[in-house]
Amino acid sequence: CGIIGLAGRSNCADTLLSGLSRLEYRGYDSAGIAVLGADGIIVTRRAVGKVAGLARQVDPAVTGDTGIAHTRWATHGGATEANAHPHRAGRVCLVHNGIIENESALRQEVLADGRSLKSETDSEVVAHLVDMALARHDDPRKAVESVVRRLTGAFALAIMIDGFPRQIFGARRGAPLLAGYSETEGVLLSDPVAIDLSGHQIVALEDGDTVMVEPGRMTIVDTNGNVCLNRKEVKADYASQQADRGHYRHFMQKEIHEQPEVIGRTLSRYVDVPNGQPVLPVGCNFADMDRLIIVACGTAAFAGRVAEYWFERYAGLPVKVDVASEFRYRKNAFMKGDAALFISQSGETADTLEAMRLCKAAGLKTLALVNVEHSTIAREADIVLPTLAGPEIGVASTKAFICQLVALAAMSVGAGIDRGKLDEANAAQLISELNAAPRHVADTLALQAEIEDIAHNISRGSMVIYIGRNAYFPLALEGALKLKEISYMFAEGYAGGELKHGPIALIDEDVSVIALVPDDEMLEKNRSSIRQVASRGAHVIVVADPGSAPKLSNEAEVLITAPATGTILTLLAQTVVVQLIAYHVALIKGTDVDQPRNLAKSVTVE
Ligand code: G6P
Repeated sequence: CGIIGLAGRSNCADTLLSGLSRLEYRGYDSAGIAVLGADGIIVTRRAVGKVAGLARQVDPAVTGDTGIAHTRWATHGGATEANAHPHRAGRVCLVHNGIIENESALRQEVLADGRSLKSETDSEVVAHLVDMALARHDDPRKAVESVVRRLTGAFALAIMIDGFPRQIFGARRGAPLLAGYSETEGVLLSDPVAIDLSGHQIVALEDGDTVMVEPGRMTIVDTNGNVCLNRKEVKADYASQQADRGHYRHFMQKEIHEQPEVIGRTLSRYVDVPNGQPVLPVGCNFADMDRLIIVACGTAAFAGRVAEYWFERYAGLPVKVDVASEFRYRKNAFMKGDAALFISQSGETADTLEAMRLCKAAGLKTLALVNVEHSTIAREADIVLPTLAGPEIGVASTKAFICQLVALAAMSVGAGIDRGKLDEANAAQLISELNAAPRHVADTLALQAEIEDIAHNISRGSMVIYIGRNAYFPLALEGALKLKEISYMFAEGYAGGELKHGPIALIDEDVSVIALVPDDEMLEKNRSSIRQVASRGAHVIVVADPGSAPKLSNEAEVLITAPATGTILTLLAQTVVVQLIAYHVALIKGTDVDQPRNLAKSVTVE
């Protein structure tokens, strides 16, 4: 799940370990490092569980200036020490992200060579193949290249070879990898958060690239075997992007509190504040679009489903939303006039990326709403729409989600003007709501103490059902996802009107129902849903706004009033409420809020 390689940093073990700690947020179940010492000996340490456990095993024997390190999220083979990376094979030591699809044929080849494998991983097979290739090639980079060419599937690799100090070899296809160097060292990284890269020249590798990094230079060879002399190197400005929890107890808590600021930052890209009008990024033209297809995974897909209501309502634009893992395998019926929008915090989610490539190949214009600027999805999309949430470390997405919402809201207003569905005054009204969002989101954060109290009651129950109508239905789905992810409580989101078609059978005194109810045309329908569950014993928590609160005060056991009115603004404020509910329930349950079990921050494998 996370790769670090360092060639030329004295005592690199310390930097590798601190880098692995910074990668912890991505989710993992084992970790390891290997260091090549001045004596030419590679020393490896691996451990199941946390990086802190690995660090305890790193004794003074692990010394040298060239090393590789890895956090692993089990795919091929369980989370055991034998399956943890780095893997050794003869002179080769390797770490790998991704899945090698033709692993079983390659495994036979390795076994036929009289070699034995110590793990169940596809990665160890690749290590052996490189070791076997070294016998045929004088140049180790060529040996790596010859193996990489035979692999199918998705991978990022970092390889250290006995006899080649101060050099690390890498390859990328379908999984992110950055290569870089400074005067004193070469680096390979799957995530720039891992190491302070200030002063380094950096390249985000492209699919099919192999690379050798060393102090003072790197050599990239592209998919056709040509040495690339003109790859765009950027001076890294990643120093400021380092993970720092500040005075907060969790990254998630910090990120929830950063929302007023990052909303403002993101809005500056989509709104012309003096004129109160939306600004659409260059090339983003909704006037001649017949349909917008939105594709994403997880929380990002829920942002898409909220936007579906907004694009329909403000722009009369037909929208189809799908999760990427379904979209990429169905027989899509595209139409002339379709455009496709992909939403991703990381910009690296494998299913979303492949869905985008599929749309590109089908000739659709591709737009990507992404948070990570140098990500693969950002690089390959026709039009990049940034969210400026900054690095999001908590596995459960919060600030990236709310930034996706504000960007999508501004875009739907822009689309409304483009398509002649909104006049300037209506557009200005909606934009003024958006401009007020940082303030109202900040005010909503003040509900913390109230929500903490409610969280105690919720955590005592057996499950939680979120209901909403209209754009609040996908927000109900997101609220339930957030709670599941970090508290492990069973939770589901439903459209209020669907309760009677099944879910109501779940209701008893052990169930909390969280109803998301703004003061809109659906209020009476929501009231009836609340009565249906209250009369069957559910503990009803109504998340209201200042308009709906007085109308519902007799219906709810608990009423939380998010201090914001307006169609878009209330939804943003209620987003903060559902985030805080999940966070406080997780605190009571005592779970690992930032690194919940079994989850990864960005899923770069299928
Ligand atoms: C993972 C994360 C989710 C996230 C989803 C999509 O499953 O745990 O929090 O919503 O991936 O990630 P993306 O980076 O594409 O937004």
